Amino acid sequence: MSSPVSYKLDGNIGVISVNFPPVNALSQAVRAGIVDAIATAQGDSSEAVMIICEGRTFIAGADITEFGKPIQSPWLPEMLADVENSSKIVVAAIHGTALGGGLETALSAHYRCALPSAKIGLPEVKLGLLPGAGGTQRTPRLAGVKAALDLMTSGAPVAASMARDAGLVDKIIDDDLYSGAIAWTRELLAEGAPVRKSSEQSVPEFDADIFDEYRAMLKKRARGQIAPLHIVSCVEAATNKTFQEGMALEREMFMACMESPQSAAMRHLFFAERQAAKVDGIGKDTPLRPIKTVGVIGGGTMGGGIAMCFANAGISVTMIEISDDALARGLSIIDKNYGGSVKRGKLSQDKAAACRALISGSTDYASLAECDLVIEAVFEDPELKKRIFRQLDEVCKPGAIMATNTSYQDVDAIAAATSRPQDVIGTHFFSPAHIMKLLEVVRGASTADDVLATVMKLAKTIRKIPVVSGVCYGFIGNRMLNPYGKTVQLLLLEGATPLQVDTAMEEWGMAMGPLRVFDLAGLDVGYKARQALSDDEKGDPKTYQVPDVLVEMGRTGQKSGAGFYEYDDRGRPVADQVVQNVIEEVAKDLGVERRKISDDEIVERLISALVNEGRKILDEGIAQRSSDIDVVYIYGYGFPVSRGGPMFYADSQRNA
Ligand code: 3HC
Ligand code: NAI
Repeated sequence: MSSPVSYKLDGNIGVISVNFPPVNALSQAVRAGIVDAIATAQGDSSEAVMIICEGRTFIAGADITEFGKPIQSPWLPEMLADVENSSKIVVAAIHGTALGGGLETALSAHYRCALPSAKIGLPEVKLGLLPGAGGTQRTPRLAGVKAALDLMTSGAPVAASMARDAGLVDKIIDDDLYSGAIAWTRELLAEGAPVRKSSEQSVPEFDADIFDEYRAMLKKRARGQIAPLHIVSCVEAATNKTFQEGMALEREMFMACMESPQSAAMRHLFFAERQAAKVDGIGKDTPLRPIKTVGVIGGGTMGGGIAMCFANAGISVTMIEISDDALARGLSIIDKNYGGSVKRGKLSQDKAAACRALISGSTDYASLAECDLVIEAVFEDPELKKRIFRQLDEVCKPGAIMATNTSYQDVDAIAAATSRPQDVIGTHFFSPAHIMKLLEVVRGASTADDVLATVMKLAKTIRKIPVVSGVCYGFIGNRMLNPYGKTVQLLLLEGATPLQVDTAMEEWGMAMGPLRVFDLAGLDVGYKARQALSDDEKGDPKTYQVPDVLVEMGRTGQKSGAGFYEYDDRGRPVADQVVQNVIEEVAKDLGVERRKISDDEIVERLISALVNEGRKILDEGIAQRSSDIDVVYIYGYGFPVSRGGPMFYADSQRNA
């Protein structure tokens, strides 16, 4: 097999070119190729060396598929030592994304240039790791302690211009990268630029308290994760140990992270997320329908957020409401959301204005005639939804995709209300829709392949992570929530308190305890849904009696100031004896014996409830694969990333 790394002389410059699609990851062959090329350059007529990549990006990191397997020589730190120890200056020329080991390669070079569109970052923390090839030692020497900590503990990439301001990139090349980088390298030679090793630079001045501050902040922000705290220790070592000692500590901590269940879980998620975007049986060559204009019906909690998702991606949106007042209310919430993003520095005023200008409103369904996609987000009423789809069938142009944001309803029944069920699909967004990453894409029995492929692709355009679900009550996520919620009620009756349940689950890693979630969503939603059911359909009263009593007392959750908790002026939950009395009375009425329940039992029973339902969902073919369920729970329901999702967690417990 030919090497993915080539070497040639371009006049007096030795050019090392990496070509290992899709992202030029540092596989063994790439590492060996770079080591060979550097060695060749030391003995030929070149006066300087340039490292550049072909394809869509500079090196995007170590090859994650090699993680967890025995390391094959040369190791990345060895390769980087060769780069840094080159007797001729080495220039890295960056386009696309220089991430992880890719950025570490660039930092081992003596000079760095980049296209303005390039991004650089150290995202290892998102894989439960820390930069393991000198990133923790070289970055603070070049950019200072704070910038290094921010880059590594957030894992978020930064634009080339920011990287230049931080001292990680020396020059921005505006035109063609190859010719620009060659010309700049010749300029460096002409100036007599020396071999400049990052490892030999000293760390700029820093605030003495910074490490304690970051440790305290990360203990809260990245609860239970080990990699962020190890990153702080490695950066601290860069300030008070030699480069070699710092490298040794970095290696030790990198290996500890690599062998941790947390990193295994987060690496699982990396591939799960990419796998989820693929639909079995639908090839990459499936034709896509163009989506240039979108209609959203309903400007409430979900409709407004959905409209923003498309506008933020540059797609124009028409929002339909029942009345001028309702429309004005919906649009004003959108205005408020954009205002908030500007205030928090998430969007510039200009960008927010440009996005907002893409959203228009109407009370006339005829305004949807030219839309390529229409998403319905009205009340969760199956008859209303069917009526709306009949209307859409009349006004939408042929080939338009018609989607419903229903949380539970039968997408096939909604599709059957139209004369074109092949164009109907479910797009289940999560609240707040403009922020939450998950999109459950519900494939109806008649949904056409090109409709599904178009929506999966569109999800990426609007920066969502799509997961395909078949049709069933609640699809993947909400269906699993049902037994989870019922188990919470049983735990309360058997002796746990709301605060104990929430604390146990939050300590375990859930973003929010279940009872706080119920209070936030509103207890009246489930109450109303239950009113429409027969006693048989409702099931065991132990699983709903307490919330029913609370709703009948006017305690509908956070919005009414009380639910499973009372809420103080600042919206913080406070345990409430009234609720405890209700729980104990209901337990007595229903003959439930109360006992002391341990936190371990709470976690074990709640996670098992999710996993058991997940297995049924898999068996029934509602989810394509187990890892899709993990993606749903992590991106839609606050399941801890470092546990890899309920299905991965259950498997890893079984194999432990
Ligand atoms: N190793 C192996 N495969 C990788 C990879 C990597 N580092 N990065 C991406 N891929 C694969 C993906 O799995 C995907 O494969 P598939 O087509 O078979 O599903 C393919 O490349 C394309 O990836 P994306 O779909 O994510 O493509 P995008 O264009 O959307 O994004 C990217 C490109 C920004 C580079 C994104 O893939 C990414 O963020 N990659 C991970 C970067 C990363 O985490 N690097 C650090 C690795 S750890 C490290 O370097 C340790 C070091 O410090 C020692
Ligand atoms: P909402 O009550 O906040 O908004 C619904 C809006 O639809 C209202 O503004 C109403 O005026 C409008 N509407 C009603 N009939 C209409 C019609 N015929 N034409 C145009 N507009 C009409 O409801 P919400 O929360 O936004 O939910 C909408 C849908 O999204 C429901 O199906 C719900 O199950 C689903 N969903 C809700 C989530 C949530 O957290 N709120 C999460 C995911 C899905």
